[in-house]
Amino acid sequence: MRPELDAYWMPFTANRQFKKSPRLLARSSGMHYWDDQGRQILDGVAGLWCVNAGHGRPKIVQAIQDQAAEMDFAPPFQMAHPKAFELADRVAKIAPAGMGKVFFTNSGSESVETALKMAIAYHRVRGDASRTRLIGRERGYHGVNFGGISVGGIVGNRKMFGTLLAGVDHIRHTHDPARNAFSVGQPAHGAEYADELEQLVALHDASTIAAVIVEPVAGSTGVLIPPQGYLQRLREICDKHGILLIFDEVITGFGRTGQPFAAQTFGVTPDLMTVAKGLTNGCVPMGAVIVKDAIHDAFMNGPEHLIEFFHGYTYSAHPLACAAGLATLDTYADEGLLTRAGELQGYFAEAVHSLKGEPNVIDIRNIGLVGGIELAPLPGEPTKRAFNVFLDLYEKGLMVRTTGDTVALSPPLIIERGQIDQIVDMLRAALRRAA
Ligand SMILES: Cc1ncc(COP(=O)(O)O)c(C=O)c1O
Repeated sequence: MRPELDAYWMPFTANRQFKKSPRLLARSSGMHYWDDQGRQILDGVAGLWCVNAGHGRPKIVQAIQDQAAEMDFAPPFQMAHPKAFELADRVAKIAPAGMGKVFFTNSGSESVETALKMAIAYHRVRGDASRTRLIGRERGYHGVNFGGISVGGIVGNRKMFGTLLAGVDHIRHTHDPARNAFSVGQPAHGAEYADELEQLVALHDASTIAAVIVEPVAGSTGVLIPPQGYLQRLREICDKHGILLIFDEVITGFGRTGQPFAAQTFGVTPDLMTVAKGLTNGCVPMGAVIVKDAIHDAFMNGPEHLIEFFHGYTYSAHPLACAAGLATLDTYADEGLLTRAGELQGYFAEAVHSLKGEPNVIDIRNIGLVGGIELAPLPGEPTKRAFNVFLDLYEKGLMVRTTGDTVALSPPLIIERGQIDQIVDMLRAALRRAA
């Protein structure tokens, strides 16, 4: 029997459409979900870009069960438990060199707020308190809290919520279909879009700017791959002007692009990195900010009995999340999952790019195990064509995600080649049905 659907106000959902035709997931294992009607659904998006090791992994399940029985909660302020330190240490070991400190949160959105606050506070503790301005990017997604939507650049996430944070500016997005459509991997054109940061420095003066935040690969805004040289150029401009560079790696973290972090895939080290999702394989909510040692160390002054950073959450480093995180990192290591996307990316790229020429496909983008297939919008009804494809594919047993008119793919990193073929075949058939 289906539950009463009325009371639950669903997040980022067309509530009325959903409740007329609910999609209720009941069970998951490996590469699949099953819904409450018994339909088997191939997971083409790792849940929501988070179940990187696939579903129902035994080590993770066991670790959560054991931890719940052993200790349910430990206060994180002026107290701690051993697994918090173990997990921070393990995360730091796979992070880019020099990024040795880890601050725990409960979500990507909280990681973003934390990183923005850290950046502003960092300049202040160094006596540079005029650096308060934050720079984001058009089409950026940094979660849904006020800091995140202020630096974010998706109009639907911003326009309803008033004036947002003051002192925020944006550089332009990197999407350039006229020059880059159907690029395999990183597009060739657009490194110069980073130079817009120089214009903002000229406008505001570097002495007022704390940080720039970008997603190395923008996911929620339709899978935008950084043009060759773009992130390098952004890094150079930040260095030149003493501006901190924050990479939002909430979707790119933990193996999605072929290395543990996109920073390593693209060879650019930020000052702070926000993560969540794959940190616990999506099993228990958890996020983190991974920070350069020098940034952390700048806070470690003044009398030793005083709190250095007035920030944290009741559930920071929750024992269940830490247990899940440790077991997740074990699973990734045991199965080589943090580099598996790199091994599969050639096969994956060829498969998704074989959709070129199918009805209404206007661009295809890919990196690691991320794909974006952009469709021409239905005249006067943007987002509807892709949403219809999503609904159709669900009926047929494939879960994808749509953002705007882009169908996004980000399967669990355990995917086999045959399952990549299956996803692409099902998508091809859906595109033909929708024509
Ligand atoms: C780049 C990025 N930042 C932040 C977030 C927000 O994460 P959460 O939904 O866990 O708050 C997301 C979520 O998709 C994301 O893709």
